[in-house]
Amino acid sequence: NTQPQPQYHDLLHCLCSQEDAICNLIYTAQNSTAYASVLQFSIRNPRFSNNNASSSSSRTKPIAIVTPTTIPQVQSTVLCSRKHGLHLRVRSGGHDFEGASYASLSSPFVLLDLVNLRSVTVDVPSKSAWAQSGAVLAEVYHSIASASRTLAFPAGLCPTVGLGGHISGGGYGTTLRKFGMAADNIRDALLVDADGRVLDRAAMGEDVFWAIRGGGGNTYGIVVSWKLKLVRVPLRLSAFTVSRTASSDAEMTKLVDRYQRVTDKLPDDLMILVMIGAVDQVQAAFQVMYLGGKERLLRVMNESFPELGLKEEDCKEMSWIESVLHFANYPSNSTRTDSPISFAKLKAKSDYVGTPLPESALQGIWSRVHQVEAGAALLHLIPHGGMMSRISDSSTPYPYRAGTVYKIQYYVAWSGEQKEVEERHLGWIRKLHEFLTPFVSKNPRGAYANSRDLDLGMNDPTGETSYEQARVWGEQYFKHNFERLARVKAAIDPSNFFRNEQSVPPLSM
Ligand code: FDA
Repeated sequence: NTQPQPQYHDLLHCLCSQEDAICNLIYTAQNSTAYASVLQFSIRNPRFSNNNASSSSSRTKPIAIVTPTTIPQVQSTVLCSRKHGLHLRVRSGGHDFEGASYASLSSPFVLLDLVNLRSVTVDVPSKSAWAQSGAVLAEVYHSIASASRTLAFPAGLCPTVGLGGHISGGGYGTTLRKFGMAADNIRDALLVDADGRVLDRAAMGEDVFWAIRGGGGNTYGIVVSWKLKLVRVPLRLSAFTVSRTASSDAEMTKLVDRYQRVTDKLPDDLMILVMIGAVDQVQAAFQVMYLGGKERLLRVMNESFPELGLKEEDCKEMSWIESVLHFANYPSNSTRTDSPISFAKLKAKSDYVGTPLPESALQGIWSRVHQVEAGAALLHLIPHGGMMSRISDSSTPYPYRAGTVYKIQYYVAWSGEQKEVEERHLGWIRKLHEFLTPFVSKNPRGAYANSRDLDLGMNDPTGETSYEQARVWGEQYFKHNFERLARVKAAIDPSNFFRNEQSVPPLSM
C-alpha cells in the first residue's frame, strides 16, 4: 500500500517549509518517476523487492522516500514525521536480511535513506576516522587504505554492506579474533534522537552509546556518523582461500571436526572461516587470514591444523586492502567497474556453538545440504576465541564472547517467483535450524542481531509489544543485555517512535 496518507501532505508541507528545504529530495510512488529506482537501489534481498510478488506482497512499501544531504535535513525529517504521526524507518546499505529497513509488516512509513550521507574522513595521527552511516564498507576501507597502508577497520567481508546497519548490529570480519567486532572499535557517534536533537557521545551518555553499538538498528535513533578506531595491520599479510572436496561425507566430517576443535584456540593473528556447500559432494572453502608472513603461518598450521594439508603454494601474501578484495571475490587485477556481487533471494539463520558438534550432527547437516539443489545452501563458520573471549559479555550488547567456539551463519538462496519454490526453501532452512537444536547454544538459543530472522518472533504491528513478549527473540540476540537495552530505549525514546518488527521496546520503571 503506497497510497498517500492524509498526513503525507502535511509531511511535505512541513519539510518544504523548513529553512534547509528538502523538497527535491523526496520521492513518492505517485509524484516521482524515480521512486521505484530510488527504493530498489540498495535492496539486497530481492525477496522484498518491488517486482517480487510472493514475499513482498504482504509488506508495506514506503509512502515517501527522503534522501537528506545534510544532518539538519535528517533532523527535519524526524521532527516532521513525528509531528504528523508518520512512522519512520532508516536505511543505510539495505542489507537487512528481512528487508526491515525498506519494507514493513505493519503501518505505512516514511523511508529516510542515508544514501547521500556517505563521507569518510581519516585522521592518521589519531588512528581514527569519521564515517557517515550511508557509506558502504568498501568506501570506508578504500578511504583508510588511501590514507595509510598499515591502518584498517575490523568490519564485515561484504563490501556493499552499509556502515549504519552493520555497526548497529555488531559487525564481524576477517580480523574478528584479533580486534573484536566493528562495534567494539567505535570512539564516538552522532545520533539524531526522536526529538530531533543531534547527540554526540558526551551528550547521549554512556548508556545510549553502549546500546547503539550492537543493540539493533532503527531503535534508539538515527546514527548519522561514527568515529572509528582504526587498528594497525602489517604492510604484508597472508590472505587466501583453500578449497577441499571430500571423496565422502565421512571424510568431510573428519576435516570439519578437527577444524572446530582448534579454530578458537589458534593465535589471535590467525582467523580461518569456512564456507560449506555442496555440488555433488560436500565442499569446504577455508578462508585464511593471517596478520603475518607465510613462513610463520605454515609453521602454525603444521602444528595446529595439519589435517588441512596447507602447502606453501596455497599461501598468498598481500596488503590488507588487497585481502578485502580477495575475500569479496574480486579477481586480483580487477578494476573499479568489475563487480562479482549479485544478490539472490535468500533466508538467513544463525547459531552459536559452545561445544564442538558431534560427528552425527555434522553428518546430519551434510545429508540436509544434499537435499536442496546444488549451490542453494551455504553454511559459514565464523570462529571466536582470541580477543573475542577477552572482551566482557556486557561490554557491548553483543553477548557471545568467552565460551563461544564459533558462530554458524546459514543461508538458502533461490530464484523465481513461485510461492511453492519460496516455501520449499524456507521449509528447508527451518528444518535445519530445528535439527541443530540439541547441539547449539541454549537457554536462550543464540542468534546474531545482524542476521535478522523474523522466525524468532516479532513485535506487535501496532507498536504495543511488551518487554515480556519481546524477550522471546530479544534474549536470543542479546541474552542478559536485553533488559539494559530496553531500559536505555525507555530513556532515549519512551514513545517508541523508532521501531520495526524486532526493535527493542521500552521498559520503564
Ligand atoms: P540496512 O540499511 O538494511 O539496515 C539494517 C538495519 O539497521 C535496519 O533495521 C535499519 O533500519 C537499521 N539502520 C540502518 N542504518 C541505520 C542508522 N544509520 N542508524 C540506526 N539504524 C540504522 N554482517 C557481518 O557482521 N559481517 C559480514 O561479513 C556480513 N556480510 C553480509 C553480506 C551480505 C550479502 C548481507 C546481505 C549481509 C551481510 N551481513 C554481514 C549482515 C549485515 O551486517 C547486516 O544486514 C546489517 O544490518 C546491514 O547494514 P545495512 O546498513 O547494509 O542495512
